[in-house]
Amino acid sequence: MCVGEPSDEGIGSIVIRIETIDTEHPLYAQACELRESVLLRPIGYDMKRFIAEYADTEESSAHFVAVVDHPSGPRVVGCALLRPDYPEVGSGKVTQVAVDPQRQGEGIGRQLIIAIESYAFGRLELERIFCHAQLTAIGFYERLGWGVESEVFEEAGIDHKRLAIRNGTTSTGSE
Ligand SMILES: CC(C)(COP(=O)(O)OP(=O)(O)OC[C@H]1O[C@@H](n2cnc3c(N)ncnc32)[C@H](O)[C@@H]1OP(=O)(O)O)[C@@H](O)C(=O)NCCC(=O)NCCS
Repeated sequence: MCVGEPSDEGIGSIVIRIETIDTEHPLYAQACELRESVLLRPIGYDMKRFIAEYADTEESSAHFVAVVDHPSGPRVVGCALLRPDYPEVGSGKVTQVAVDPQRQGEGIGRQLIIAIESYAFGRLELERIFCHAQLTAIGFYERLGWGVESEVFEEAGIDHKRLAIRNGTTSTGSE
């Protein structure tokens, strides 16, 4: 299943392509490796444990990947998940947002979130999307117009806050 049209964004001379893939796609394994190295191993997880505990998330989410074409083949340099209609119809949860540490600060995370907003608000017509952000990543979402919705809470042993953005409050929204 491919749930979105690829989009290209040039960053300097490098072209980043945002694609939506499913768990059967050849790039899924690379996305899993990135999630493991950036997000999961630092908190004691790997993909096997994540899938065991969050199988619903893996299966129910649209998987976004940021891809760079390399002479040796396409490389996943960023990824994120959107779980539509969660926890209720009209809402969506963004999770597992990760950018290759060597490529952070180049606008790849921004391109992933813009693609997710465009898909969530434009195609799915969701009313709101939210995430549970580690405190170190809150500034990233705020730069993209997301607002803090909660006090600090603990998840997987780490402090987080919930941030969200509503349809119509972003330039990629459908209103
Ligand atoms: C957080 C993360 C996804 C951001 O991706 P990125 O590609 O580095 O971010 P971008 O280059 O697109 O940054 C977009 C804007 O957010 C800002 N920004 C990026 N990371 C930030 C952070 N941690 N805190 C504050 N601002 C941040 C950038 O300066 C940029 O600002 P600008 O509008 O002035 O240009 C990435 O750094 C990452 O994978 N971090 C480790 C994993 C993680 O924390 N994931 C989120 C879990 S909740």
